[in-house]
Amino acid sequence: MMKNDLFLRALKGESVDRPPVWMMRQAGRYLPDFMKLKAKYDFFTRCRTPELATEITVMPIHQIGTDAAILFSDILVVPQAMDLPFEMKADIGPWLQKPISSAADVNKIRVPNVEEKLDYVMEAIKMTKSELDNEVPLIGFAGSPWTIMCYSVEGHGSKTFNKAKGFCFSQPEAAHQLLQKITDTTIMYLKAKVRSGVDAVQIFDSWGGVLSPADYQVFSWPYIQQIIDALKEEAPVIVFGKGCWFALEEMATSGASALGVDWTITPENARAFSNRNITLQGNFDPSRLLSPIPEIERGVKDMIDRFGKDKYIANLGHGILPNIPVENAQAFVNAVKNYKS
Ligand code: CP3
Repeated sequence: MMKNDLFLRALKGESVDRPPVWMMRQAGRYLPDFMKLKAKYDFFTRCRTPELATEITVMPIHQIGTDAAILFSDILVVPQAMDLPFEMKADIGPWLQKPISSAADVNKIRVPNVEEKLDYVMEAIKMTKSELDNEVPLIGFAGSPWTIMCYSVEGHGSKTFNKAKGFCFSQPEAAHQLLQKITDTTIMYLKAKVRSGVDAVQIFDSWGGVLSPADYQVFSWPYIQQIIDALKEEAPVIVFGKGCWFALEEMATSGASALGVDWTITPENARAFSNRNITLQGNFDPSRLLSPIPEIERGVKDMIDRFGKDKYIANLGHGILPNIPVENAQAFVNAVKNYKS
């Protein structure tokens, strides 16, 4: 039995006394103890060592008191398992020496045996579940196929992902082949994560918003729908599409248990576009955690009043920023926990 099951109840749409709260990227650089481990071990070593991944995953549970844990890992472990050797460079971020640029490159990509290639993730899940001792649920995650393709074609981060878009528009057949291979891998990966013990999964479509609404329906959404169809009987699925408010109506009938929204949409519009029936998650502007604490408290109250306390999971609209004072992150979480209508 889960001791704190608020998050799972909100995913089922049950009525709760107050909404659950967690923060995207909650195990991150704003935590001093995280920085100590970051100084000692490089990024993918932290991901690949189950003891380190476990220690980092439970940090925000013990130190900040969020209602759910999210496994410390990265969306890029999936393309790594497909033999795309991503590195994490200090001042650049994700880096792939030889990005995908042709149909021949796509042909070479294999759908791997994920249990073998990503066994360290499964080990980290088992260790984290045991460490959490059913205190709070554990979220597993993956990037959306489109978002993984963005990094695989671009080779690094970008504001526009024009190379990835160009690949789709000039070589659509190869693009769809690549998206399907990523989708097949992701489905097996998330199913293995559920078997290893995660209580819910979140799909991060961090770059869905660089596509037009029409192109989103061609290059991103159908692949996310395949993942939902394959996973929904096994675990609740949350879809977070950054900048994807235009797709909320379709997402709301997809079989997902909840939809994540960023801070550029009002709670009222998010409810209206999703037809008022599905659990929503979000959407505090991460930079707003730089405000004085009383303002954060007022902002949280206003956000919950407007989304409503039911069918709602309080979160940020995207990952927490490295320069947020710990006290401010703590104030955000406390304000949700102290919510009264
Ligand atoms: O939410 C959590 O606390 C769980 C851990 C998590 C990380 N990455 C750890 C991480 C999650 C859910 C992710 C997902 C992820 N990774 C996404 C989707 C979510 C989003 O933010 O849009 C994306 C696009 C990536 C790829 C990636 N990994 C980027 C763009 C970066 C930033 C590079 C930089 O220089 O800041 C990373 C690195 C990364 N992943 C960090 C963390 C805590 C920071 C670097 C570090 O710790 O060394």
